Amino acid sequence: MKIDWSLWEVPKQKYSSANTSINSGRLPRLFTVVKKHLGWTKDTMNFDIGSGKYLSTIHEFFTKHKILPFFYDPFTLEWAVNTREITSAYGRVDTVTISNVLNVIAEKKNRIRVLQQAKAIMKSDGTVYISVYPKEGCGVGEETKPDCWQSNKKLSEYEKEVGSVFPFVEIRHGIMIARLTSS
Ligand SMILES: C[S@@+](CC[C@H](N)C(=O)[O-])C[C@H]1O[C@@H](n2cnc3c(N)ncnc32)[C@H](O)[C@@H]1O
Repeated sequence: MKIDWSLWEVPKQKYSSANTSINSGRLPRLFTVVKKHLGWTKDTMNFDIGSGKYLSTIHEFFTKHKILPFFYDPFTLEWAVNTREITSAYGRVDTVTISNVLNVIAEKKNRIRVLQQAKAIMKSDGTVYISVYPKEGCGVGEETKPDCWQSNKKLSEYEKEVGSVFPFVEIRHGIMIARLTSS
């Protein structure tokens, strides 16, 4: 499968939000919600978009569940790491996770790009799991610290954008689940 590298270049964003990655020791909620309510399947592959800089907790979690983890973050990981992960995983992953990423990207076109990356990297019958940190949930975005953005939007407010890339979208257990085909 030929990789469209233009989709994976470092995006032009007003805020990189790289320093919103502060969760060094705790597993993000998305992974435990899927575990509790939907279940992870062993011997599968997961690709985590906007992984942040602290990969070890998620790496350990997936290894324990016999899932092969891949990571991508244009602002916190070395380009060599990103290209290695994309090359290894392209078109092969069963699940994609996007945890607390859409809410730190100010531009719609860059959020859509993340969703297009999810679509490109996964199998046609794969599943995307999305969580956001809504913070105030008031819908008015703000710069929380230098180079960091917070949209303050509730999860449901991303449904239309996710639906523009994935025809099947639902919210269950406080996370969004997106697919190209009906489950
Ligand atoms: C709040 S952190 C989330 C880190 C981790 N996923 C978690 O849940 O703890 C947001 C991450 O999104 C990344 N990010 C910002 N813009 C992005 C983009 N266009 N594509 C992918 N990741 C992006 C930032 O570099 C940052 O590491």
